[in-house]
Amino acid sequence: MDFQQAREPGMVDYFRDDAWRNEEVGFGRTFVLAGTKRGEPPVLGYYTLAMARIIAEDFPESMRGEFPFSRIPVACLEKVARDDRVPKEKRLGALLIGDALRRVLRVSRDIACFGVMLYAKNKGLEAYYGRYGFEVLARKPNKTNTSQLMFLSLAAVRANMPAR
Ligand SMILES: CC(C)(COP(=O)(O)OP(=O)(O)OC[C@H]1O[C@@H](n2cnc3c(N)ncnc32)[C@H](O)[C@@H]1OP(=O)(O)O)[C@@H](O)C(=O)NCCC(=O)NCCS
Repeated sequence: MDFQQAREPGMVDYFRDDAWRNEEVGFGRTFVLAGTKRGEPPVLGYYTLAMARIIAEDFPESMRGEFPFSRIPVACLEKVARDDRVPKEKRLGALLIGDALRRVLRVSRDIACFGVMLYAKNKGLEAYYGRYGFEVLARKPNKTNTSQLMFLSLAAVRANMPAR
């Protein structure tokens, strides 16, 4: 099964090489939305999840007071991509992100998780994830990481998602 065509060619390479490597060593789980209809690409889209921690200083001061520890357990949404031949109206991105958030909610019953973090690698993606409620955290892009850290609390996800 291969992911064939994305707006960012790097996402094709990631799926072919790194997603499988991450899977094998347990560094990331990649979930695939498979094409089932005739003429559809084999992989319509995918996303990767992993566990992570971020430091309390990354959060706005207004929130930090609530934290009993300096390292905050989160889930990391590492990659989200759709095959760019699928029409925009299918809203695959919304489907993939919704599925990822629902999955994190389920896992959080067994493994403590305060929310979901991701890195937006440019302003376009920062605005895109903002539409789903992800907020820019205090840590700014720097020489070692040029992407913007963003965060969505599980409390917000829970409040906006119908229970299943
Ligand atoms: C992110 C993604 C899954 C969203 O899918 P979607 O919900 O169907 O939304 P669209 O593809 O219509 O994109 C919506 C907007 O997000 C922004 N966006 C998406 N990918 C972007 C990218 N790589 N760079 C900059 N902006 C991007 C754009 O503003 C875009 O609107 P536009 O197409 O009018 O420029 C899809 O755009 C994608 O596969 N992008 C390439 C892979 C990627 O960069 N993923 C994020 C890396 S973690």
